[in-house]
This record gives sequence, C-alpha cells and structure tokens, in this order.
Amino acid sequence: MTISDHFEPRPLLILVAGGKGAIGTTLVAAAAALRKGVAGVADHLNTNRLFSEVIPLETVHVGGWDVRTESLRDCAKFHRVLPGSIREAFADVLDVTPMIAPPAADETMKTSVERIAGDIDQLRGRHPDALPVFVNLLPACAGADADTCRDLGRIFDNVSFGQFPDLAYGLAAVHSGVPVVNFTPNVIEVSPLLNQAAERRVPLCGRDGKTGQTYFKLVLASALKARHLYVDGWYSMNILGNEDGRNLMDPDRARRKLANKTNLLDQALGYPVGERYGTDTHRVHIDYYPPRGDAKEAWDVIDMLGLFDLPMSIRVNLQGRDSILAAPMVLDLARWMAILQMLGRSGPIPELGFYFKKPIGENAPVTYPDQLAALSRLESECVGQLE
Ligand SMILES: NC(=O)c1ccc[n+]([C@@H]2O[C@H](COP(=O)([O-])OP(=O)(O)OC[C@H]3O[C@@H](n4cnc5c(N)ncnc54)[C@H](O)[C@@H]3O)[C@@H](O)[C@H]2O)c1
Repeated sequence: MTISDHFEPRPLLILVAGGKGAIGTTLVAAAAALRKGVAGVADHLNTNRLFSEVIPLETVHVGGWDVRTESLRDCAKFHRVLPGSIREAFADVLDVTPMIAPPAADETMKTSVERIAGDIDQLRGRHPDALPVFVNLLPACAGADADTCRDLGRIFDNVSFGQFPDLAYGLAAVHSGVPVVNFTPNVIEVSPLLNQAAERRVPLCGRDGKTGQTYFKLVLASALKARHLYVDGWYSMNILGNEDGRNLMDPDRARRKLANKTNLLDQALGYPVGERYGTDTHRVHIDYYPPRGDAKEAWDVIDMLGLFDLPMSIRVNLQGRDSILAAPMVLDLARWMAILQMLGRSGPIPELGFYFKKPIGENAPVTYPDQLAALSRLESECVGQLE
C-alpha cells in the first residue's frame, strides 16, 4: 500500500476502562510484544498488513483505568491467561505501566465524566503525537433504561457512576473527541452520547465482542442458510471460570449478553428458530466453572432438517481462551477507529459488525458473508482514501 505524503506515521494510544482485567492485561502484553517486534502477535491481527505506514504496529501504547490496586503483573497472574514465561518476558511493562485510579464510586455521573475527561487529557499529554482510542472493557452490568438516558440532564440526575460507570467513560471520551470501542454488552450508545459523537466528529463501534462460540455460530448458521438446511433447534452451553464468568452469574448483569448471543441467530437465519413448536428452541447457557479460568469451553448441538424434513444434527465443541481470542480484536478495532477518525468518519460504524454480537449503526450487516463483505468494502475505501 502506498500512502500519500499527507499522512505521517502516528503512534496509537489505547485508553482502556478495565485495563487490569483479563482482556486488558493480555492487551498490554500484546502491545508490548508488538513494540519489541516479538513474533506471535502481528500475524493474529486482521489489520496486520493494513495501515502499517500510518499507524505502525510497533508503536501501540496502552493506558487507562481500573479499580484494582494490585500491579498489572499481579493482575495478569491472577487472571491465568498468560503463562509465566510470557508474563516474565513483558515484566517491565506489566510492572510499571501506571493505571490511573478511577473516580470513587459515590461520585455523581457529572463529576465522574469531568474527572475522566481530565484523566484523558493527562494520558494524551504523555503521548502527544499519538492517536487516542477509548476501549470499554468494564464488567457486564445492568446499566440504565433508554428513557432515563434520553438526555444528559436526566442521566446526570438519575444515573450514578457506580450504577453505570461505562457511560461516564464513554461520555468523557466522546467529549474529548476520542473514538470509542464498546467491547462490552453494556448499552452506552444512548442518544446524548450519539448526538455528541456526531457534533464532535467521533466514530464509535460496538457492542459485545464476537470472540468465540457466537462467532462460530454465525459462520455455521450462514453456511446452513446458504444450503437451505432448516435449523430446528440450537442448544449452546458455555463453561468459563474467569471474572467475566463469575459476573455473568448475576441474572441482571447477564441479561444483555444472553440476549445478544440469542437474537443474532434468528436475525442471521431470517426466521425464529423453534417457530414450528411455538417456542424458542435456541437456548444459550453460561455457567461459571472456576477450574477453567479463562480457558472457556463451549458445546453446541444443532438440530436441522434436510430433504423431506429428515432430521440431522451437528455437534461443535470449542475449547477456547476468552482473552486470547479477544485481545487481538481489541487491537484491530482500536486501529480501525483511529484510521476512520483520521479519514473523517463519525458516529456508529456498522461496517465493523464483523467484530460484534450486536453491531451498532444503521443497517448493520447480520450474516457472516454480509459482515465480511462490509468489512472488506470499508478496507478498500480506507486504503483508497489513504493513497
Ligand atoms: N473475553 C471475551 O471473549 C469477551 C467477549 C465479549 C465481551 N466481553 C466483555 O468484555 C468485558 C471485559 O472482559 P474481561 O474478561 O476483561 O473482564 P474482567 O472482569 O477480567 O475485567 C474487568 C475489569 O474492569 C475493572 N473495573 C470494574 N469497575 C471499574 C470501574 N468503575 N473503573 C475502572 N475499572 C473497573 C475490574 O477491576 C476488572 O479489572 C466484559 O464486559 C465482557 O463481558 C468479553
């Protein structure tokens, strides 16, 4: 790719809420590996060979916030994502990377937004040439309903920071002109935030990273649809033992995640699974199972009908690693957002639906082929504008 002289190479600064979590610590190690030119990271990015002359891969910095007071290194050990050999290789960054303490839980939403916006200025000041992107990696939460979030005044009067911290970070990022990646199932894309993003020319993408079981579900559902094999039922089970899994045992916190995991199938197939039984036969279960840590396991049983409605079935068993699947996607998304802002895009970016369970934006593509095609069109448009 030949880049016009107009675009100087710039570093990337990823500002993470929840930076000491399982994905956050993996992301810090991955960014450090890229800076040191270590093999095994760049090849797993799908923006690997894209935009490298504008945002060189070896200049990715990570900063941000967490409520945890332990060092990043201790947090990385706690999450059991990276083996000791990898943690030791990046001990310097895992030891020293400072994470700014978040505002106290009893602050008002307004004060928190102001404080976080101040933190963003400070973090940007440390990397003045860098292109900043905010990434939301906070735990799943119940959030607040759409009516309460109709305007900023209502949010400030009725929603506390402790109840919905994601919204404070999101509002502060948009206010500061920083693009937003919402990797969580939490609905931060409320009208006041979207309006401000349009005014300040800020691109956003989300929601709920499509990392493992749901990614393969969409691929398979699209393949079955293409062959006109009728999906009669789909039973999905997950066990995971990380903090995300523990958190999702709270039904209020899990509601959106389960809805995102469930709705996507009917949308991709174009009919409600279970319609001939008069009940939904797409079931999704998540179970917290501590022995597994981040090494999540998922099972899918797919019942389908072929010619003469004769039944057949498929079994899928995924033995994944949640944060190992998620961290490269976060890196890709941060690079996409920085490039898109540079090229003048703002508001929700539906073309990035490939990465999410619940893509935001108008007419976001829902099937796997449509999501891949949209991503590839976006890539061509960006490359064309950069040349
Ligand atoms: N791993 C995946 O495959 C995947 C896929 C889709 C979505 N997600 C979502 O990504 C998010 C992050 O996942 P994770 O596994 O890293 O979770 P995690 O629980 O390990 O990390 C969350 C971090 O947020 C911190 N935190 C909590 N409240 C905070 C606050 N007010 N300010 C700053 N930090 C705060 C916690 O201390 C913790 O370190 C979750 O919402 C999860 O549902 C993960």
